[in-house]
Amino acid sequence: MKEASVQIDLPAIPASYHIRIGNGLLDDAGPWARGSLDVDTKRVAVISNPTVYGLYGDRTISSLQNAGFETVRCLVGDGETYKNLETVESVLTSLAADEITRSDAVVALGGGVVGDIAGFASAIHLRGVSLLQIPTTLLAMIDSSVGGKTGVNSPAGKNLIGAFHQPKGVLIDIAVLATLDGREVTAGLCEAVKHGAIGGTELLGGLTDLLSARKGRDFAELSEDDRFQELLIEVIARQVEFKANIVTDDEKESSARNDARSRKILNFGHTLAHALESVTGYEYFRHGEAVGYGILFAAELSKNLALCDKIDVQLLNDVVQSVGPLPALTGIDLKEVRKAFTLDKKNLAGSLQMVLLKGIGKPVIVSEQDIPPNVMTRVLEEFLAKWA
Ligand SMILES: NC(=O)c1ccc[n+]([C@@H]2O[C@H](COP(=O)([O-])OP(=O)(O)OC[C@H]3O[C@@H](n4cnc5c(N)ncnc54)[C@H](O)[C@@H]3O)[C@@H](O)[C@H]2O)c1
Ligand SMILES: [Zn+2]
Repeated sequence: MKEASVQIDLPAIPASYHIRIGNGLLDDAGPWARGSLDVDTKRVAVISNPTVYGLYGDRTISSLQNAGFETVRCLVGDGETYKNLETVESVLTSLAADEITRSDAVVALGGGVVGDIAGFASAIHLRGVSLLQIPTTLLAMIDSSVGGKTGVNSPAGKNLIGAFHQPKGVLIDIAVLATLDGREVTAGLCEAVKHGAIGGTELLGGLTDLLSARKGRDFAELSEDDRFQELLIEVIARQVEFKANIVTDDEKESSARNDARSRKILNFGHTLAHALESVTGYEYFRHGEAVGYGILFAAELSKNLALCDKIDVQLLNDVVQSVGPLPALTGIDLKEVRKAFTLDKKNLAGSLQMVLLKGIGKPVIVSEQDIPPNVMTRVLEEFLAKWA
C-alpha cells in the first residue's frame, strides 16, 4: 500500500468549559480547579509575573493547596517585551524541572501576556497539558482568556507563533481589578467597546450603562459599590458570552470564512491598532488603547465608504471618549502606518482584509481592493491629524 488516508473528525470545540465570574472568587480557586480538572490531577504549576504574584499569588496558592493540590510556581517577566520564545523556553524548562506531567495542570494567573505565554507553554509541554485561566486584567477577562488562542511575538511580528489550546476553565474575580492601573482599565474598556460595536446595541448599551454608573471614578474607589460591582459582573458576562458564541462557531478562525459571524470579525479595530503599536515600538500604547483608535478609524472609514451611518460613528466616538483618555497620536507618520498595514496582509493570504461596519452590530469584512486607495489615505491622514 503506497498511500492511505484516514479521516479524523474532531468536534469544533474539543471540550466545553465554564467561565465563572464573580466578586471575591480568588479564595475559591482551589475548589474551582478541583471541579474543572480531571479527578486525578495532583500538581498544578501557577504561572504569573512578579507584579500579579505579589498581589494575588499567596491567596491563589493557599486555596489550591487547601483543595489538595501540590503547587509549584513559575514567574515570567512583566510586560509585552517578555512575550517571546525565550520566555516560553524558560517556562518549559521550569515545567520539566518541576515534573509537571500530562495528568497535571497549568494555571495562568495574570493579564493577557501571562495568559498567552502560559497558554502556549501548556499547549506544547508534553504535547499539551490542562490549562486553567485566572485573568487579572479587564482585557484578559473579556477577551484573551476566552477562546483558546495562545502564543507569543516573534521578530517578524506580534502573535505570529502560537497554538489553539482551550482552557479547562476560566475564573474571573472582579475584585482584583481594584489594583489595576487606570490606563489598563481604559485599555480593557476599549476592547469591550470593540465587542459592543460588532456585537450590537444591547451589548454596547450594557457597557454605556456601566460607564455612566462609573462617573469617571477608578475601579478601586468603586470596589465597595455593590450596584456597580453587580453591573460589572453582568457586563463581563455578556462580553464573554459574545466572544464565546463567535469562537464556538469558528474556533480556528477559518481563512475561508468572511461572514459577519466569523472569528475574523473580532479583529475589528485591529488593523490600525497593530500598525500603531508597531510604528511606536510596542511601548507607547497599551494594546487596548491602540484598539480604541482602531475602532474610531474603522468606523470613520466605514462612513466614508458609505457603509455606515454618521449617527453610529458619532455614538462610537462618544463611547470611546468616555472610557478614559487615550495617548495622543502626535508624530505618527502616515507612510509608516500604511507600511505597517502589510503586516496583517501576511496573515491573510496576500490581501489586507479590514473589518468595517454597516452599523452597530453589523460587521463586514472588506478586502483592500474594494477600498479606493485615495479614500484610505485621506481618511487616515485626517484621522492622524485629528488625534495628534
Ligand atoms: N489570546 C488572545 O485571544 C488575546 C486577545 C487579546 C489580547 N491578547 C494579548 O493580551 C496582551 C495584553 O494583555 P493585558 O492588556 O492584560 O496586558 P498585561 O498582561 O501586560 O497586563 C498589564 C499590566 O497590568 C499588570 N496587572 C495585571 N493584573 C493586575 C492586577 N489585577 N492588579 C495590578 N496590576 C495588574 C501586569 O503585571 C501588567 O504590568 C497582549 O499581548 C495581546 O496580544 C491576546
Ligand atoms: Zn485586541
